[in-house]
Amino acid sequence: MTKIIVVNGCLRMEKSNTSKILTPFLEGMEQAGVDIEMFYIKRLNIQPCNGDFYCWNKNPGICHIADDMQMLYPKLRDADILVFATPVYSPLPGEMQNLFNRLIPLIDPQLRTRDGRTRARFHANVKIKKMVLVSSSGWWEKENFETVLRIVKELAEDVNVEFAGALLRPHIDWLVNNDEKAKEIFDAARQVGFQLVREGKMSKNLLNIICQPLISNKRFLSKMR
Ligand SMILES: Cc1cc2nc3c(=O)[nH]c(=O)nc-3n(C[C@H](O)[C@H](O)[C@H](O)COP(=O)(O)O)c2cc1C
Repeated sequence: MTKIIVVNGCLRMEKSNTSKILTPFLEGMEQAGVDIEMFYIKRLNIQPCNGDFYCWNKNPGICHIADDMQMLYPKLRDADILVFATPVYSPLPGEMQNLFNRLIPLIDPQLRTRDGRTRARFHANVKIKKMVLVSSSGWWEKENFETVLRIVKELAEDVNVEFAGALLRPHIDWLVNNDEKAKEIFDAARQVGFQLVREGKMSKNLLNIICQPLISNKRFLSKMR
């Protein structure tokens, strides 16, 4: 069965805004038949990378920092799809960046040039084939996701796995008291979850439904003052 690992960087965990989009997405994947395990970074002890390159030069693939990454590494190696869930925190919570840095032991240190860029690959024992981003933000425009989106895309490109797309929900607070739009958006999130498992990709139209504007920028600004 397809294995999904969700790394959830939402510090408000179950109460987080991002989980409003993540939950139906995972439901859709479950309906399609997958094995999902989710880890809240906040509940884990994940130290920062200390940059000594032990995992590349001394003992390739092995990180010597004794923390919860030692529990997570085998699960990450064994996942087919890796889902990152995070809010936009100009650009993302520091705990999430620590996690990204600590993925280095999964990467083969043999660098090569791909499309004019210095790139790597995962070690042969890492199964991950796709990465997905699920994110929410407070401000009005989608451009608020550009940095976090670039970070996850860059990681996928660097290790030569497919970036399968992003479920992005700007001005998410405006979903409250808007049951009609909330239903449309949660249904779309459920459908792309199902699609990703069954068809291997998510429809652009459905992803656009998830990030559609809920109010005008003018109204947003007038209410924020
Ligand atoms: C430290 C911090 C920085 C933030 N920076 C941005 C930002 O740059 N752009 C934006 O649209 N929202 C920003 N937000 C708002 C959050 O992205 C938004 O409230 C989000 O839905 C929170 O998701 P969560 O409940 O899953 O943590 C910021 C929030 C915090 C606490």
